[in-house]
Amino acid sequence: MPIIYDAQRNLWVLETQHSGYAFGIHSGGHIKHTWWGERLEDPSDYPDLSRYCDRVWWDWNDEAPVRGEGNMAEACIKACFHDGVRDVVLKYDGFENPNPDTLIIRLFDPAYGLKALLHYRLFEPIDLIERWITLVNESDHVILLEEIGSAAWYIPGNDRYFLTHLSGMWAHETRRTTQPVADGKIVLESRLGQTSAFHNPFFALSADAGENSGAVWYGALGWSGNWRMTIFQQLYENIQICGGINPWDTRITLEPGGTFQTPVFLGGFTTGGFGQMSRNLHRYEREHLLPKNAEEKTPSLRKVLYNSWEATNFSVNEANQKRLADLAAEIGIEVFVMDDGWFGNRDNDQAGLGDWYANPRKFPYGLKPLIDHVHRRGMDFGLWVEPEMVNPDSDLFRVHPDWVLQFPNRPMTLRRNQLILNLAKPEVKGFILGTLDWLLSENAIEFIKWDMNRPILESGWTQAPEGKDREMWVRYVHHLYEIWDTLRRKHPKVTFESCAGGGGRVDLGILRWADQVWTSDNTDPFDRQSIQEGFSLAYTPKVMMNWVTDWGGKSAYPLSFRFHTAMLGSMGIGADLSHYTNDELVEARALIAFYKSIRKVIQNGQLYRLRWPSEHGWTVNEYLGEEGKTVVVIVLKNPVPLRLFEIPMIRLKGLDARAHYRLRSTDQVFSGSVLQQVGVPILFERKFEVKLLEPTHFQSQVLVFDRISS
Ligand code: DGJ
Repeated sequence: MPIIYDAQRNLWVLETQHSGYAFGIHSGGHIKHTWWGERLEDPSDYPDLSRYCDRVWWDWNDEAPVRGEGNMAEACIKACFHDGVRDVVLKYDGFENPNPDTLIIRLFDPAYGLKALLHYRLFEPIDLIERWITLVNESDHVILLEEIGSAAWYIPGNDRYFLTHLSGMWAHETRRTTQPVADGKIVLESRLGQTSAFHNPFFALSADAGENSGAVWYGALGWSGNWRMTIFQQLYENIQICGGINPWDTRITLEPGGTFQTPVFLGGFTTGGFGQMSRNLHRYEREHLLPKNAEEKTPSLRKVLYNSWEATNFSVNEANQKRLADLAAEIGIEVFVMDDGWFGNRDNDQAGLGDWYANPRKFPYGLKPLIDHVHRRGMDFGLWVEPEMVNPDSDLFRVHPDWVLQFPNRPMTLRRNQLILNLAKPEVKGFILGTLDWLLSENAIEFIKWDMNRPILESGWTQAPEGKDREMWVRYVHHLYEIWDTLRRKHPKVTFESCAGGGGRVDLGILRWADQVWTSDNTDPFDRQSIQEGFSLAYTPKVMMNWVTDWGGKSAYPLSFRFHTAMLGSMGIGADLSHYTNDELVEARALIAFYKSIRKVIQNGQLYRLRWPSEHGWTVNEYLGEEGKTVVVIVLKNPVPLRLFEIPMIRLKGLDARAHYRLRSTDQVFSGSVLQQVGVPILFERKFEVKLLEPTHFQSQVLVFDRISS
């Protein structure tokens, strides 16, 4: 029984396979957190509220902290009632336990008719809990919501913790960042109207955990707009992590009878270190989050795609795309994606956004001839769009200048020469949905790459309904999700990729609708390893799109090294294939065929990071396939100083010690015990004479083992 109520102690205990979570109902009606950590031997072992009785005035450890009643911690709920009262008092009002994995705690403020439902959904085998709050206005008056967090988590105080999170910028997204937690607050957030490349909504707190062991408390938020997580340490207290929609510049009007549901804030605890944390998150994403088409029985595999952006930039046309498609088909590509430049009057980034019809000069007969050409070569056809955007130089802007986000009497900030359509407006939502639906209905398109190349900088909503202008930030995201949801239902065979000028829209919110995400515009194989390491902390390799390109010049890295770097997730090619020699095309074809033979293990397997760039300067990833039948080890050896000649033994993880595994390349057989305890030597050609860095110093290997007996 994962959810247990101990009536005598007024204590709820939520247990997953290895973790326990507990909170109690105080006689004053408050819901107070008492435990999050290892699963204890017996439900009676979990601390109850007797611990807090003498100090409840501190009002810390509230499961749903409010602005009110003297609460001094960060709040999930701040409201203003019709008479100006801003003191929220939410008291326990019962519970619902609709199924064994779900608990709903009801709270109510009888003086003002505000109801809060605290939702808990347990994922027992992967030690995760989804939390969110539904607010209901049961009064006859409007309630203004000024803070609408999803959950507050608490981890035991009196230890020295480190916060690991993902920060960065354009072309350097998801950088693994670790910093000490000291008294005070650390705020991670986005105010850009998108998830953002600067910070990603993910946290992990640990005192002494490593990759393979140690306690880690972690979480991630399912929201693709402005978000905030506050990590708050106060002397002697538990550490509070409060998070959800960013209240900055936001206010929601809750009409009488109205409800508001916050996004999900997922939390987990493991003693298996950062590795187990990632494996739990990856499994949650694959099994419970990512969209599945009705007919799919097993999780589908991401196809190898080609994308035209780096090859032809804005200068796409029917002839050059057909030529690229021919080459792509030759090397085994499965989806051909035409990127930016195909529509409106688009020759550069100064015009055309908003005019989603094929440019008649570049595609005189429309998209059909190209799409047919691609299909005839056995590939799916994909198209790039950036539907939330408009260039001032576009037909759309000339007709609907009032559709963009703007404040009257103030200049509109251009970024990449574009403005943002106010997706909070129903007519804009209708336009975007209608346009995309039309594009997908008129053309045989199997793949959409949805981009968003600039942040929201002016939040002005002209002609907003009275008093609702600050709802823009939230309505924008709700409408975005509604559009993706409708498109997926109407066009169930289409695969969707989320992109925002690289990896600016990667989160558990968009992953309910996006099959995959564009990780970063930086495709340099060396830089990319760090970006991919950070990404893999929170997100499954299955959604991590990696392209092979010619960044830094075709000769900067061996071709195989570029391919092997891309193989760490879902692979694509972005290079200009028309500059490839015949030998290179042959090699590319072989590498793609090889990737196809192992992708199931990479995309659906369990990831063990054996070496990672932020600590070792290079990468070894192990992927353990279904039932441990196949093991793939990808080794990327960067020429890091002092390690140039290292020939390490790599010890694998997660194998059956008694089973035997055959190395495909040599037919050598190893026991699981040997592979895990002794390891396998990774032999690279030695480079003793080397003084200067050369491409050949980037060396890579992929080892594939098959389990042959138990
Ligand atoms: C940014 C994306 O990250 C690129 O891959 C490409 O699609 C460009 N936008 C096109 O404008």
